[in-house]
Parts: sequence; structure tokens; C-alpha cells
Amino acid sequence: MNHKVADLKLADAGRLRIEWAESRMPVLMALREKGRREQPLKGMRIAGCLHVTKETAVLVRTLIAAGAEVSWSGCNPLSTNDEVAAALAAEGISVYAWHGLSVEEFYWCIDRTLDFKPTLTLDDGADLIFQVHKNHQQLAAQVIGGTEETTTGVQRLRAMAGDGKLLYPVYAVNDSETKWDFDNVYGTGQSSLDGILRATSVLLAGKTVVVAGYGHCGRGVAMRAAGMGASVIATEIRPTQALKAVLEGLRVLPMDEAARLGDIFVTATGMKDILVGRHFDVMKDGAIICNTGHYDCEINIGDLEQRAKSKREIRQSNEEYLLKDGRRVYLLAKGRLINLAAAEGHPSEVMDMSFANQFLALCELAKNGRKLEKQVYALPPEQDQELARLKLTTMGLSIDALSAEQQAYLSDYSAGT
Ligand SMILES: NC(=O)c1ccc[n+]([C@@H]2O[C@H](COP(=O)([O-])OP(=O)(O)OC[C@H]3O[C@@H](n4cnc5c(N)ncnc54)[C@H](O)[C@@H]3O)[C@@H](O)[C@H]2O)c1
Repeated sequence: MNHKVADLKLADAGRLRIEWAESRMPVLMALREKGRREQPLKGMRIAGCLHVTKETAVLVRTLIAAGAEVSWSGCNPLSTNDEVAAALAAEGISVYAWHGLSVEEFYWCIDRTLDFKPTLTLDDGADLIFQVHKNHQQLAAQVIGGTEETTTGVQRLRAMAGDGKLLYPVYAVNDSETKWDFDNVYGTGQSSLDGILRATSVLLAGKTVVVAGYGHCGRGVAMRAAGMGASVIATEIRPTQALKAVLEGLRVLPMDEAARLGDIFVTATGMKDILVGRHFDVMKDGAIICNTGHYDCEINIGDLEQRAKSKREIRQSNEEYLLKDGRRVYLLAKGRLINLAAAEGHPSEVMDMSFANQFLALCELAKNGRKLEKQVYALPPEQDQELARLKLTTMGLSIDALSAEQQAYLSDYSAGT
């Protein structure tokens, strides 16, 4: 058997979800048709480790249409959509993923995707590529290259490349403008609130929302929470980001102060220990805490457990911790990515561009990857312009172009006031 999923009977429901996503992802669908004709991935075996959502299914089908063999696992224990996983398995696609798997099962699934000895790898958070480097180094020689979807994964791979430890080249898909400035901002902004609302159904208007980290994701969350009538506080460590938050109308405070004021906390830093014991000690009764960064280390759950008298699941993805002094703190989605664990991840429209970048990066690796060094590479900026233009076209929008005179003016230094 080339799959392990929760329940194959969910396949029909999964197919409908994927069909819906396909209707919202015109750029990737256009690349699929081109790929079907030109077969740029023919002969490639792609092992992927990325959230099994309906949008990922559209990517997987596109890779196969372009000639690749694919084997897939989810990149987070709580992010797999079981209906989608069942639909892929029912299509004969090799997929090892189910919602709620243990950490041991998580790595077992990755190992199964490596059984077919990939020539390309695709990561979201670098768990698969680390597994190759740690436990399956013999596979690395035949891997032409890999791609990485998210900020945290790219940071770690850059660190590895810096230490001379990276065994094959990687494209940092995250760092493309059409990914980082859209998916992380608008995708995370909307879908994190979606997750919070599904897990709590609270009224956001009038609440104080504390967003830790005013980077791409944090800014998206802050913008959308403010749009729903929340008063937003940002915490930061970088002065420039903090200044941007202030000038965009937010309050900026250290977490030690913000911890007393927040009704809802969202961590979005990619850093560990953002909310720790001393913060739980001063939070309001009823405070809601969640994370949208890649790993579940931003909220120190051990500290929370230590302070708790008891805990119970009060709603799906929502655990009430009753603290020893009688206050209650609500932890959503066990501190894992709130948007994927409690909702459906980013909307298809924004994943359209992220996954178009993934697809083009893999095609480029298949063609020219053997010429690359064992480094982390950015995708060409022209690709962003092409993809954005295509996206605008599919939205029925057109833009201006420079006239010949304007073009010349760009390089003219003879004229002034
Ligand atoms: N939920 C999702 O679907 C999703 C989507 C994309 C990215 N991510 C993940 O979200 C995280 C953030 O990604 P990003 O693209 O916004 O990164 P980013 O680098 O743009 O932003 C992170 C921000 O956090 C700040 N920061 C770091 N440590 C901090 C601390 N101790 N206190 C306060 N602020 C701190 C940094 O200064 C930076 O401004 C990463 O882990 C990334 O992988 C999640």
C-alpha cells in the first residue's frame, strides 16, 4: 500500500474540497496545463512535506500532471485535512498523513515518503530535509535540490548552509515577493483570525489583541484584527518593525507589560518562549492564547501546565487551563499553527501564487539544479512580476506600462528642476 490516511471513505468530500480550491487557483491551473504539455518534471521523484490541505492537493495534482512521481506527508501533526488526504490516496497518490498523529508517527510518515528515493524534495519547515541530513544521508547524493516554503525553514537552512552542512541546493520559495508579501501577510492574517473564531466564536470588536512579532505574519494578523474592531498591541525586538507598528497606529509594548492587558494573544515570531510562566502569572482571567508561527515552541506549554490545577477541552481546538489562583487561560490548538490546526489554512486565492512559485522552483531545479552549489537560493525577481501579472489578468485587472519616453527618463540624469 502506498498510503496511510485516516479514512478512505472521506475521499468524495475531499474531492469536492479540491475542486473548490482549483476553481480559485487560476495561476497554478494555467501552469498545470502548460506542464501537462511540456512535461518539465518527467522522471522526477518528488518527496513533499507540507500541510495536506485542499490547496496542497492542487499543487500535488499539478506536479503529477507535469510528469513527476510524488510521495507526500503533512508538515504538522494537526494540519492535515483528512478528507483531502483520503481523496489523494483514492487517486492512487502516495500520501502518508492524518490529523492528530503523534510526533513518532510524523517522522514515520516522512520516512515513508523517502522510501522511493526522491530526486527533489519540498519542505515547509525543513523537517523532511533535516530527516535526510540526519538519518538518510545516503539519499542526498541523488537529490538534485529542494524547496522551502516558510520563514522558519529558510532561516534554518541558511544556518546549515553557513556551516557548510547543506548537502544539496535549496530554493527559498518563502523569500519571493509573491509569497512572503502575500501568503504570510494576507493569508496568515485572515486564516489566523478564522482559526481563532472557529475555536472560540468570540466577538473581536472591543477586545485587546496582542500580536507578538510585527513581521509579515504579525502585520497581517494585526491589520485584520484591527479591521474587526480590536485594539491591537504589538511586541517586537527589532526597532524598525516596532516603529512601523507605531506609525500604523498600534500600541507597542514589551510582552511583560502587554501580558496584563491582552484578551487574545497571537504569537507570530518564529522564536521560542514568547509567552512563558511570568506572562501567564499576570494574564487576565479568560485570556485566550494561540500561535501562528511554524513550530509549537512560541508558547511555553510546560510553564502553563505547571501553573494549572486542571485542564479540559471546552470546545474543539480550545483547552481551558484552570490556574491554581482560580484564573482561566484558554490555549488554542495546543499552541500549534492556529490557522491550520483550527481552520483550513490560507485561502486558495493566496496559495495560488505561493504554489505557482513552488512549481516553478521545482521545474527550475529539474532543469538546472545540477549546476547549483549547496546553498540556499532566491528565486529570480522577474518571476514575481510574471506571476503577479498573471494573477492580475486572472482577476480581470490590467495596469499601465512605461512609455518609451518614460523608460528613457529612468536612465536620464541630464534633466533636473
Ligand atoms: N501560520 C501560517 O500559515 C504561517 C505562514 C507563513 C509563515 N509562518 C511562520 O510564522 C513565523 C513568522 O514568519 P514571518 O514571515 O512573519 O517572519 P518575519 O521575519 O517577517 O517576522 C517575524 C518577526 O518576529 C519578530 N521577533 C522575533 N523574535 C521576537 C521576540 N522575542 N519578541 C517579539 N518579536 C520577535 C522579528 O523581529 C520579526 O519582525 C515563522 O515561524 C513562519 O515560518 C506561518
